[in-house]
Amino acid sequence: MAGFLDEIEPLKRTALAELKSATDLAALEQTKGSWVGPNGKFTALMKQLASLSKEERPSAGKLINAAKAALEAALAARREELEMAAALPKEPTDFTLPGRRRALGKLHPLTQVTDDIVRAFRKIGFAVADGPEIEDEYHCFDALNTPADHPARDSQDTFYLSPSPAGAGEGGAAAPGEGRGAKSFLLRTHTSSVQIRVMEKQAPPVRIIVPGRVYRRDNADATHNPTFHQIEGLYVDKNVTVGDLKGTVEFVFRELMGSDVKIRFRPHYFSYTEPSYEIDFTNALVKKMGKDWLEIAGCGMVHPQVFETVGYDPAVWTGWAFGFGIERIAMLRYGINDIRLFYENDVRFLKQF
Ligand code: DAH
Repeated sequence: MAGFLDEIEPLKRTALAELKSATDLAALEQTKGSWVGPNGKFTALMKQLASLSKEERPSAGKLINAAKAALEAALAARREELEMAAALPKEPTDFTLPGRRRALGKLHPLTQVTDDIVRAFRKIGFAVADGPEIEDEYHCFDALNTPADHPARDSQDTFYLSPSPAGAGEGGAAAPGEGRGAKSFLLRTHTSSVQIRVMEKQAPPVRIIVPGRVYRRDNADATHNPTFHQIEGLYVDKNVTVGDLKGTVEFVFRELMGSDVKIRFRPHYFSYTEPSYEIDFTNALVKKMGKDWLEIAGCGMVHPQVFETVGYDPAVWTGWAFGFGIERIAMLRYGINDIRLFYENDVRFLKQF
């Protein structure tokens, strides 16, 4: 008995020392096992308890329980220390460093310009309309008085989609006399297609603008990209004149580019307007580029055939329409010389706006 009792104290001290010196949680668990696990040294000691006499057992049991409680307390304390150490940052922390700010994003320059154009038109009562980028030939060309054999289709070549399952181009009214299956779909070459979609749905008067993405089969260079953006405008009412058109265009460009803006109309041809014009634009920026005028938009008085097609009476209703490229305006405004910069999404470029 004396021998057995004498073993407890040194064993306990060794165990405590080992637990305290465990350097990480895994080592601690291993040490724990070697003492109080099924084959642990301390467990072995407890098993010997059974072989003691009835008189010896209470005092030996008391001693062993106290030792066991000490080991468990030491184990818990060391575990907490090691867990705390594991959770602490590896590097020292400098609490005097400035806080980390989340950098605020910005709108893309094309979005900013579009928003400005929309704002200018809203001041004079225009509403924004929208339409599908995957368009059918009817809305992109035919209804705009540009039949399949019209040469204007060559200058606006685009990406055609293979015959699509029912449901594509959803939201647009089916063209008269055309079943869905017979339709051929393409990526719209201009936002002018939305003129037709709006007039099909709504009775005159109409006062809309249509900002949106358009597509052409063009190779990318400094001034071309297969994807770009346009704003279309349409105004239909009684007794609308070219004077209204010119006044409106002038107002909007002055809002956008400053009061020194001058515009000029040059006769041109578009199949959906008659007469048609190209709009030239100038201001100090254009002069700085070494030019007198810069071609900026197409426009004209809505062709009576277009009104007939959508079911407006051309004897009652008159109107004008225009379309221009948003990139063109943004390039002028910010002095950007390569259109491709808009699409590369290089933050060094985007950060400047
Ligand atoms: N759709 C023409 C283009 O993409 C621009 C245009 C010209 C739109 C004349 C019009 C218009 O509404 O009347 O080049």
